[in-house]
Amino acid sequence: MLAGRRIVLGVTGGVAAFKAAYLARRLVEAGAVLRVVMTRSALEFLGPQTMAAITGTPPLTELFGPDTVSPHTELAAWADAVVVAPATAATLARMASGESDDLLVATILAFEGPVVVAPAMHTEMWEHPATRRNVAMLAGDGVRLVGPVSGALAGGDEGLGRMAEPEDVVAAVVAVLSGSDLSGWKVLVSAGGTREPVDPVRYIGNRSSGKMGNAIALAAARRGATVTLVTTAPPPHHPAITVIAVETAAEMAAAVWGAAPHSDVAVLAAAVADFRPAAPAPTKLRRSAGPPDLVLEPTPDILAGVAALRPRPFLVGFAAETGPASGASEKVAAKGVDLLIANDVTAPGAGFGGDTNAVTVLTPAGAVEEWPLQSKESIADRLWDRIVEVRSH
Ligand SMILES: Cc1cc2nc3c(=O)[nH]c(=O)nc-3n(C[C@H](O)[C@H](O)[C@H](O)COP(=O)(O)O)c2cc1C
Repeated sequence: MLAGRRIVLGVTGGVAAFKAAYLARRLVEAGAVLRVVMTRSALEFLGPQTMAAITGTPPLTELFGPDTVSPHTELAAWADAVVVAPATAATLARMASGESDDLLVATILAFEGPVVVAPAMHTEMWEHPATRRNVAMLAGDGVRLVGPVSGALAGGDEGLGRMAEPEDVVAAVVAVLSGSDLSGWKVLVSAGGTREPVDPVRYIGNRSSGKMGNAIALAAARRGATVTLVTTAPPPHHPAITVIAVETAAEMAAAVWGAAPHSDVAVLAAAVADFRPAAPAPTKLRRSAGPPDLVLEPTPDILAGVAALRPRPFLVGFAAETGPASGASEKVAAKGVDLLIANDVTAPGAGFGGDTNAVTVLTPAGAVEEWPLQSKESIADRLWDRIVEVRSH
């Protein structure tokens, strides 16, 4: 999987540092050649001898020393990828601001290849606005974030902040080193919630922010795809993303159906109204006229329209559920999709508008997989990993 690939593994000072030993072993087993950089704080949590025994080389910590001339530039020139696991809030902050006053961040700044980061910290630290800002900046800089996920934390706490499992970090390293693994793919993504006019100033809408769809579009673009993003929400900016701004379900249907026949993959993440006012008022409804009789009619079924195309793109549908996603399994067969991503929008941390999501992934063969609470960027990359895997079989 990683035969001969040269990886700098950065270990920072958090309780999850012990997982770095397991990750190092998995990377070595996959064929990678490792050089480990431990921050000074990391040495408080994990013995350097452990990492030396696993990798065959003593870890490096210092930027300056009698035996080194320019360790950061040497490591950066040597490496094919840099992985930081676990990544503390402090290291994320230094990376985001380019504060390269230690060997690890100096190496990352001197390095031009892919960087994978697996944050780990208490929920409060992860959710602090400073960390949110730093993570958003790093994602914007093209850093590949894996997790964190929800689960047991140090000190008996429970919540979002646990480091992703080493296997998932290895999978991300494999993905980034396979280069632009979506290169040549034409991808269609829909995002946001539709707005159906009641009169010229009012509409029936929903709470979708477009963040999940945006993250999916951005991840695809970064991985080499050419992306058409049909959205009602403010879009991300990337030269490989063409944005088609829409408002109503009918406009979204026209745009999606127009682009779908030319797409290899369609991920329909938008929250589309099922019903719209049959006859929107041409002028503003007045309170003095009393409550209007709002007659609704069905909107076009965008997913069904794409599923009916022959040939059709690889199709991923999203289903917002208000309860456990098990009811969504009938939808997989009924809708004719290749993957259905269901999420319980009433679950803590997984609703509309937030930066995290927890989803259930369902396949037509009946497989059901739970992806625990994690950042929408992390879900997006994991989804593309899965699509690459399914399409290559
Ligand atoms: C017992 C203990 C556990 C810690 N665990 C974490 C952690 O899991 N995540 C984190 O971001 N910081 C954690 N910290 C704080 C970091 O160690 C501290 O911010 C340090 O400066 C990080 O340095 P580094 O990023 O250079 O490794 C912990 C501190 C202590 C004392």
